[in-house]
Order: sequence, then structure tokens, then C-alpha cells
Amino acid sequence: PLVTTQTLIDDARAQRIGVGAFNVITLEHAEGIVAGAEQAGAPVILQISENAVKFHGGRLAPIAAAAAAVAAQAAVPVSLHLDHVEDTALLHQAADAGMSSVMFDASHLDYEDNVAATRAAAEWAHERGLHLEAELGKVGGKDGAHAPGVRTDPGEAAAFVAATGVDSLAVAVGSSHAMTTRTARLDHELIARLRDAVPVPLVLHGSSGVADAELRGAVAAGIVKVNIGTILNVAFTGAVRATLTDPKLVDPRKYLAPARTEIAAVVQRMLGLLNTVDGP
Ligand code: G3H
Ligand code: ZN
Repeated sequence: PLVTTQTLIDDARAQRIGVGAFNVITLEHAEGIVAGAEQAGAPVILQISENAVKFHGGRLAPIAAAAAAVAAQAAVPVSLHLDHVEDTALLHQAADAGMSSVMFDASHLDYEDNVAATRAAAEWAHERGLHLEAELGKVGGKDGAHAPGVRTDPGEAAAFVAATGVDSLAVAVGSSHAMTTRTARLDHELIARLRDAVPVPLVLHGSSGVADAELRGAVAAGIVKVNIGTILNVAFTGAVRATLTDPKLVDPRKYLAPARTEIAAVVQRMLGLLNTVDGP
């Protein structure tokens, strides 16, 4: 069934486990992610990024409706999240499209502008009962918050949460987006300090680049929501590529079915990992 992201985050936090949030690009992503969650017997968050909306012609509603329909039929709790929103016009589509949470990403702005934009987004979301995730991690230079080497400062994070009223916080602790190797090294001690400094649940982005033990350590140290995208596309595209070797094959179902199955396998494995973490 369809539930709210707040419910899934609250449940995971209470159990000191992680909740997986997987990026949906196509209908087959949503189907594969939910199949994997059912195989794992775990709840899951389906997240649609601003980039995925752009891929669908700038319209959130069609892909959100597809994800919502898959979620409604699921045997496990599933929520819908709008990810990495920079465009306020897209933020404002979230409620009507059935999203229960949004990640508003103003991390490219200077600190004061990030605070002002994020506070406005949080106020808008809260008026509609939505959960608002934000990001803080730019510590200087031109790097984005999840570039290698960038870290979130615990004191600044606490001040940011107090000033904006956000419900969860994405932090920079060593991961970076779109890695196709699982070689990122996380600062687990910093995660624990952030958990102690910040009252809201912590979110890890770029989790595809994080190996099993590092990820389990991150959850044990205080990460609650774990965002996973690229690793699904590595599996999906690998299956498509392996199937397309037959030049007579023209039916898309012949390569989309194994691709969807590979997504389910990755999701089942990752959720198993997040669900068996022992708290400190
Ligand atoms: O918001 C989405 C995640 O941060 C996904 O990152 O594609 O590197 O796993 P990833
Ligand atoms: Zn991300």
C-alpha cells in the first residue's frame, strides 16, 4: 500500500535501521524496485528526481501516477518522494502529484540563500502536510555538496535545521553521486557527530558508490534514509546490453523484462543490508 515517507522514516529510525529510497526513471524501475522490496519483505521509498521529470518532458504527473499505481498494489508499504528539486515550480507540483515528501536542493547556493530558499520550501510543504528534506554540505570552493572531499559541519547543520524547520537533512560525509564503483569511504565518526548535533533524521545521497560494510556502518552511526540510484541503472543497462546481442530481437519486453528483474535483485540485496544493521 501507499504510505507516507514520514511514516517509513519514523519506523526506520525507531528500529535503528535504514530505509532505502530508490530512483525511478521508467515504469519498469518502479515495478522492479517494488518487486525487490516485496522479496526482501521491507518497505521502500520510490523517488523521482527533477532530472527524471525533465526526461519525461518536464511533467511530473505521468511518471508519478505510474509509481503511485505500482505502490498502491504493493504487498509492502511504499511512499513517493520528489528528489533533488531546484525548481520551485516543480516543488509546487508535488502535492497534486501524490508525493508525500520532497527533497528541496538549494545546496548550490550560499549558506544564507540556502537557508532562505529552504525555509520557504519547508513552510510551503508543511502547509500541505508534506515532509521536506534539504541538503547542507557546501563548505567552500565551487564543489557541490556531494563532491568528494566536501563535508557537512555539525554545528552549521544544527543551525541550518533550526533556521529552516526541515524534517530531514542530507549530509556530505564522503559519498558522491553517480559512482559506478563502490569505493567511497565514509566518515562514520562525522555521521555520529551529526546525528548527535541534529534533531532530524539524516539522509545519505550517492549510496551506489558505498560498499556493503561502509553502508552498514553508516546506518549504525545514524543514517536513516539511504538514496540509491546509479547501481540500479548499472544492473538495468547491463541486462539490456546482454539481451540486445540478438539482432532479430525487436520486442522491448524481451530486454525490459530481464532489466526489471535485475533491478529487483539489487533492491532485494540492498534492503536486506539496510534491514539487518545493528544499532550502536
Ligand atoms: O538522490 C539520489 C541519490 O543520491 C542517488 O545517488 O545514483 O549515486 O546512488 P546514486
Ligand atoms: Zn542525491
